This record gives sequence, structure tokens and C-alpha cells, in this order.
Amino acid sequence: MNTTGLSAVACGPELIVALDVAHTTDALKVVELLGDEVDFYKVGLELFSASGPEVVTLLRGSGKRVFLDLKLHDIPRTVARAVASCCDLGVELLTLHAGGGRDMIKAAAEACRGSSGPIRTRVVAVTVLTSLNDNDIAEVGVARPVRDHALALGELAVACGADGLVCSVLEASQFRDRLGMSPILVTPGIRLSSGDAGDQKRVATPASAVRAGSSFLVVGRPILDSPAPAEAARKIREEMAAAR
Ligand code: C5P
Repeated sequence: MNTTGLSAVACGPELIVALDVAHTTDALKVVELLGDEVDFYKVGLELFSASGPEVVTLLRGSGKRVFLDLKLHDIPRTVARAVASCCDLGVELLTLHAGGGRDMIKAAAEACRGSSGPIRTRVVAVTVLTSLNDNDIAEVGVARPVRDHALALGELAVACGADGLVCSVLEASQFRDRLGMSPILVTPGIRLSSGDAGDQKRVATPASAVRAGSSFLVVGRPILDSPAPAEAARKIREEMAAAR
């Protein structure tokens, strides 16, 4: 097993920019525009569906770190094999849905640890999407509030070997209280206080994400839709640094 890439966890809260764009060319334009301001990018379903592994290889080739947000959720064997392929790409973080259950999470964690990929990939489990609220999850049969559901799923995922969690800032400090400092906490749903929430229902500012114990803040639209994306990224990093 390769053990490089550990520094990502040790060096405090970091900014990850979500490359929520349709094509490799659009992604590379964003990367060029943001320059040295950002070195860690999230490739999600939209971009990966269009560009496939090539975009990951290109980003790594230009010295960038990659969070591959595929939110895997399938039978354990299929997920383990997909995880092994993603590890071979050299992604630093990879997501799966904690709702996939105990055996699936264990299989994914084992595949990650058994990989001989170029860096040590961390598998992080999505608890409850930040676009969902109590009414939304009640509609799909979850009787308990989002907060309780997210905490239970998060505890299960970490107990099954996940390296960390994707969660709302609103749950992060409670995860820290219950699980300590070692799990990676990745928090999306970040908005500057003046920003538009869009479809996100559980949002928080960069400063409150840092104070809640987040390891990585994932930011998409507040940077991508800004008239000055590099400046927006700088502002968020400054707010993060001031809150440390
Ligand atoms: O544009 P915005 O900053 O809302 O983007 C947030 C990003 O984080 C999106 O790429 C979305 O897919 C992702 N995400 C999320 N909630 C989760 C997991 C990932 O919003 N629970």
C-alpha cells in the first residue's frame, strides 16, 4: 500500500473547488483562471460522465490534487471494484453513500487499503445530501430528522472503516464530539454570508465550517459563478485562515 498523500489530512482545513462543469475544456479553463489560488479540485458526476478518467489524469498532470465525487452506491463487490479503479487514477478523496450499508462500506475501505495506486486514496462517506431537509427524507421513508439520520450514518461509516465523512457544517461539530479528530470531514454547502444558497438547504459560511472542525470545504457556485473567481477563492481562503 502506498502511504503518500497523508499531508492532506494533517495540514488543517483546505479549500476544494467543485468543477461542476460539462466538459474537460471548461474544467481546464477554471483551473487556469484560478491558478495558484487553488490546488485541489472536485470532479463530480457531471464532469466525470462527460470526460471520464481523462480529466483526472489531466488535472494530476498539471500538479493538482483530485477529489473524485462519484457517490458510489451499489452491491459491495461492484463498489469494491470501482474503488480499486479510482485508486489507480491517483485520486486523493473518493465518495460513496453511507446508505449503501455496512458490507458495502467495509468492501470499499478494504479495496482502498489494498490498492497499490500512486497515492493513498481516502474513502469518505456521504451521510445526507446538503440539498435535503427533514421533509425530503421523510418522503423517502426516513422517519428521524436529518441531523439524527446523518449522525447515525456517519458513525456507521467510520465504524466500517471509512476514512471520513461528507456532511453538512451543521453536523460537523457533533461528529467531532462523537468521533474525535481523526476522521476527515468534508463539508459542502458553503456560502459567503452575502451569497445565494441555490438548491442547497443546509448552508454555512467558510468561517463557521472551519470552526465546526471541517477538514475540507467544498465550494462550487460561489466561486464558479462569481464575476471574479480567483478573487472569490482568495476571499474564502482568507475567511478560512482568519477562523483557524
Ligand atoms: O455549488 P455548490 O457550492 O453548492 O456545490 C457543492 C458541491 O458539493 C456540488 O458539487 C455537490 O455535488 C457537492 N455535494 C453536496 N452535498 C453533499 C455531497 C456533495 O453539495 N452531501
